[in-house]
Amino acid sequence: MTRSRILVTTPIPEPGPSLLDGAAEVTVLEEPPTYEDLAARCASGEFDVVLTQLRDRIDAPLLARAKVKGISNFAVGYNNIDIAAATGRGIMVGNTPGVLTDATADIAMLLILGTGRRVIEADRMVREGRFHGWEPELMLGADVSGRTLGLAGFGRIARATARRALAFGMEVLFAPRPPADRPVDESELGEFAGRVRKVSWDGLVAESDYLSLHVPLTEGTRHLVDADVLGRMKPSAILINTARGPVVDEAALVRALRSGTIAGAGLDVFEDEPRLAPGLADLPNTVLLPHIGSATVSVRAEMSRLSALNAIAMAEGRTPDHPVNP
Ligand code: DGY
Repeated sequence: MTRSRILVTTPIPEPGPSLLDGAAEVTVLEEPPTYEDLAARCASGEFDVVLTQLRDRIDAPLLARAKVKGISNFAVGYNNIDIAAATGRGIMVGNTPGVLTDATADIAMLLILGTGRRVIEADRMVREGRFHGWEPELMLGADVSGRTLGLAGFGRIARATARRALAFGMEVLFAPRPPADRPVDESELGEFAGRVRKVSWDGLVAESDYLSLHVPLTEGTRHLVDADVLGRMKPSAILINTARGPVVDEAALVRALRSGTIAGAGLDVFEDEPRLAPGLADLPNTVLLPHIGSATVSVRAEMSRLSALNAIAMAEGRTPDHPVNP
């Protein structure tokens, strides 16, 4: 029997490589491919499945020429792939849900604490020899306990963030997936019934001390947080983004942070990664992380396992364990 052929666009940690090697002929690219290179490889007929990363753009023109059966994304998000175009061409897509929920919620909580309590500014002060002893008004920050956390979206990662925030004594509000605002009724709230409050998107924007984004990137959520929304947040509010950069208009955010329209931002994702909007890195009232929501050793190993198993299943003509196509 001929072995399936799988292209891996970037080296991944174990156990994915061992699983793949045991099941298929594997080609691993040592350097991330350019769009043109990846498109040509997908069109070559040399591969049954491609194991992709978020930075690999799998758009409709690439898919129109592609001769692959499946795409296995090493991520839970799949905004880098045109799912409708893949589905239209009968190309399966798989992702890695569930395994990174807690790690990403940890980073959301870390950004809430780190931005509110000015941890980067404080650390820098110590390292630069500017700490001259305890002072009553040194590095005063914002409270976390007793403050209101607004969650935009109420999926897995938002709920895991809610769990942490409740343990920190925060009041938790949510608005499900703006702007579509899919109704979430009390029976769906499970452990959160009576402990979190559902509000409208506008209510969330106006009431939150910390507004944390947990929505996928779609045409409906692109620039969901724009100058208008920032202008309707409290001047003391802090924006947290562990979802996708383009959900925020980053240039508008820089203006809002500079002018004091809002007080701070904790960001793990950026609009045009790895580039930052001009001026963002100079703002003291920000905590900026390099998209490390899922970056723990065990989580990346699980993502590797799931993406490899998805890839092997699709290469063998089976539906992956974690399919994305409708
Ligand atoms: C994802 O999986 O979508 C994250 O953004 C990266 O782990």
